[in-house]
Amino acid sequence: MAGVFAHTVRPVMLAASRADRLRRAVERSSVTRKVVRRFVPGDTLDDVLDAVAALRDSGRYVTIDYLGENVTDADDATAIVQEYLRLLDALGRRPETSSASSHQVQPLEVSLKLSALGQALACDGDKIALENARRICERADQVGVWVTVDAEDHTTIDSMLSISGDLRVDFPWVGTVVQSYLYRTPADCRDLAAAGARVRLCKGAYDEPTSVAHRAGAAVTDSYLDCLRVLMAGPGYPMVASHDPAIIDAVPGLARETGCSTADFEYQMLYGIRDGEQRRLADAGNQMRVYVPFGEEWYGYFMRRLAERPANLTFFLRALLERQ
Ligand code: FDA
Repeated sequence: MAGVFAHTVRPVMLAASRADRLRRAVERSSVTRKVVRRFVPGDTLDDVLDAVAALRDSGRYVTIDYLGENVTDADDATAIVQEYLRLLDALGRRPETSSASSHQVQPLEVSLKLSALGQALACDGDKIALENARRICERADQVGVWVTVDAEDHTTIDSMLSISGDLRVDFPWVGTVVQSYLYRTPADCRDLAAAGARVRLCKGAYDEPTSVAHRAGAAVTDSYLDCLRVLMAGPGYPMVASHDPAIIDAVPGLARETGCSTADFEYQMLYGIRDGEQRRLADAGNQMRVYVPFGEEWYGYFMRRLAERPANLTFFLRALLERQ
């Protein structure tokens, strides 16, 4: 069943995540909105601040993503920067940022997609994305919030690594995301580990060809554990982004093997997924960060979550049927 889902349903769902007509139909449905709320706390800044307050009250850290991707107009990228600045100003008014120094682990972080900041623009896309990301990092530095740069499809990874490397020159705390399904990632992990970077390791959420990525679940998990061992053995700060019990259960052993304490790395999971496990890890004294997306552009993010797991898709379909 898992194989059928991975090889048949998942590619269709990921293709649907890029289909405009389907997007409009899904966005108009009130049932969808109800299901979306499980993964995205809301459209507005107030919605996300409420979610942040609840997560912080339960001892969890947060990273916040203002939803948007593949922007093709420079003005739209500028508007997204403005939203991040508004978000950072609001986070800066929270009590935990006032005493924070950039050398400590920051409980508050924002996550950026470079394609939302102009990377895909035909003219000077990389340069514009770097400038926009820099504006966000400058404000984040002022208010005591971390920034991590998300990883998107494989055609953007060289550009993303180069931009996040440039940002780290002025802001050494900027985090980078790598995806264990890509064949290149063990080598990228060795480079980033040697540089002492903050690195979020995830499996990868895009529909990549076999020429660049493992497609079988077991190979992706094996690659994940190999990459994590490299990151944990290095001087940087690994961020273990996964809900997979096979990975979560392996972490304490890897930490012992590489001499990491619970302060040397953190777990990360997505908002609305395995909430009980998130609480268990935080209550046990681990650093646990939750990725909280917000904003009106939730369609692509939501479809990738449905594509990840039969149970997520079933939950959505059941809600649709109950409505009829
Ligand atoms: P996977 O989806 O393979 O699930 C494995 C197992 O976990 C399941 O079989 C089940 O046992 C358990 N599980 C999963 N969901 C569950 C649920 N809802 N309830 C109960 N059990 C569940 N991707 C990307 O390409 N670029 C990026 O920048 C990011 N950023 C990112 C940040 C963070 C914080 C996270 C957690 C993830 C990302 N991702 C990402 C997404 C990532 O690449 C991946 O698609 C998802 O995390 C799913 O992969 P998992 O490792 O969770 O395992």
